[in-house]
Amino acid sequence: MILFGKRALLGAGLAAVAAPALGQGAYPTRPITMVIPFAAGGPTDTVGRLLAQAMGADLGQPVVVENVGGAGGTLGAQRTAQARPDGYNILLHHIGMATIPTLYRRLAYDPINGFETIGMVTEVPMTLVARRNFPATNMAELIAHVRREREKINYANAGIGAASHLCGLLLQKALDTPFTTVPYRGTGPAMNDLVAGTVDLMCDQTTNTTEQIRGGTIRAFAATTPERIAALPDLPTAAEGGLPGFEVSVWHGLYAPRNTPRPIIERLNAALLKALAEPNLVRRFGDLGTTPVPANRATPEYHRTFWQQDIQKWRPLIQAAGQYAD
Ligand code: MLT
Repeated sequence: MILFGKRALLGAGLAAVAAPALGQGAYPTRPITMVIPFAAGGPTDTVGRLLAQAMGADLGQPVVVENVGGAGGTLGAQRTAQARPDGYNILLHHIGMATIPTLYRRLAYDPINGFETIGMVTEVPMTLVARRNFPATNMAELIAHVRREREKINYANAGIGAASHLCGLLLQKALDTPFTTVPYRGTGPAMNDLVAGTVDLMCDQTTNTTEQIRGGTIRAFAATTPERIAALPDLPTAAEGGLPGFEVSVWHGLYAPRNTPRPIIERLNAALLKALAEPNLVRRFGDLGTTPVPANRATPEYHRTFWQQDIQKWRPLIQAAGQYAD
């Protein structure tokens, strides 16, 4: 049973607020807040800041990033679901939007119907990485070590609902071995501890790991994609390393509060499409192992359909693991 907060009902009331007809004192007339539901300096923050800059250039108003980390990305999602549906509050979130509806059974917002979709942004590969002095030099040694050490292994993630949490569930299933998870407000701060060697293992997005891997500050074992990652050509895939089926990529999408007027969603979508073609963003995404989605995947409709299908895709894994957040 999902509990809706009073404010969710309030959200519906606010929808009655007249939407400014685009053209008269055209939207936007002031800065827009983009909530990032994880700590600054992490992968979602990196994608969000590039996007905010490019969208702001098209919209003619700054898009200001606000990091609202914690509770696996649900605090930031709640902030946006309960914000005014007036076009000045948007959210960049990821695959967590597809796992949270199953992982959390008591939320103060509706994790599915509390949002309008604006469009998908990118699909970021993940990498299995460890502290530099981790006692394994390839996937086979890592598998043997984790199976031997089990709960003595400290695996960092960004909380229940995060992409790093989902990847951890998949790794435990693939290895048929439990390990200890250490939650952070984002994989930005988790990376600091991995580099410092105070946690052992993490599965994280290339937007946060590529430069560390290239710099040799962490050790990389595998990419969670069917093909090798162009930005990390020497990194084998998990299948090459002996873990076929250990595959996940982190899709990202933009959202607004439910009942944000359609003309505003369309204006935000137009700015998103412009941003995804912006040369600096495209180059930076490439440096960090990812690419913008093609335009036909960046529509509000495609985004909603893909999201709904992904909720169904991950539900059985989560139910089988029985690891609920509440
Ligand atoms: C972050 O930005 O910290 C992440 O996206 C964390 C995660 O989902 O693993």
